[in-house]
Amino acid sequence: MATNRTFTMLKPDAVANGYIGGILKMINDAGFSIIAMKYTKLSAATAGEFYEIHKERPFYGELVSYMSSGPIVAVILEKENAIASFRTLIGATDPTKADEGTIRKIYAKSIAANAVHGSDSDENAQIEGDFFFSKLERF
Ligand code: RTP
Ligand code: MG
Repeated sequence: MATNRTFTMLKPDAVANGYIGGILKMINDAGFSIIAMKYTKLSAATAGEFYEIHKERPFYGELVSYMSSGPIVAVILEKENAIASFRTLIGATDPTKADEGTIRKIYAKSIAANAVHGSDSDENAQIEGDFFFSKLERF
């Protein structure tokens, strides 16, 4: 069943470059509500666990070291059709292929340092949100 929720992270490059405010404004302007939010930093171990699904991919090591290189902002978002709507807002994984006006087109530096994460399914949104937040941290 669709939950109308998705999970995002503002990745270390976006935080380091001072884009938290700009990205959250785009998310708010697109009609998403914030259900939970946390400023934190992943260790290599927790980043590895979060991205376990990509363990066999050639970029896994690079991804884990990049995602644990600095603080991130973890957020649960709500909007009708949240998964698809948010992936449209962020644009393609590779910012050179992202549509004009998308978060990655505006804020991402490269395919690896691509500013934001967006869940790819309702099931993964639930798993990823539960990775960061307890029930008491959701409003
Ligand atoms: P995300 O999970 O972060 O929202 O990104 P995505 O669905 O658009 O892309 P995915 O295939 O799930 O890849 C996860 C993240 O791994 C990094 N990546 N690096 N060097 C590379 O070729 C490469 N490919 C992917 C990116 O940070 C990507 O967002
Ligand atoms: Mg993905």
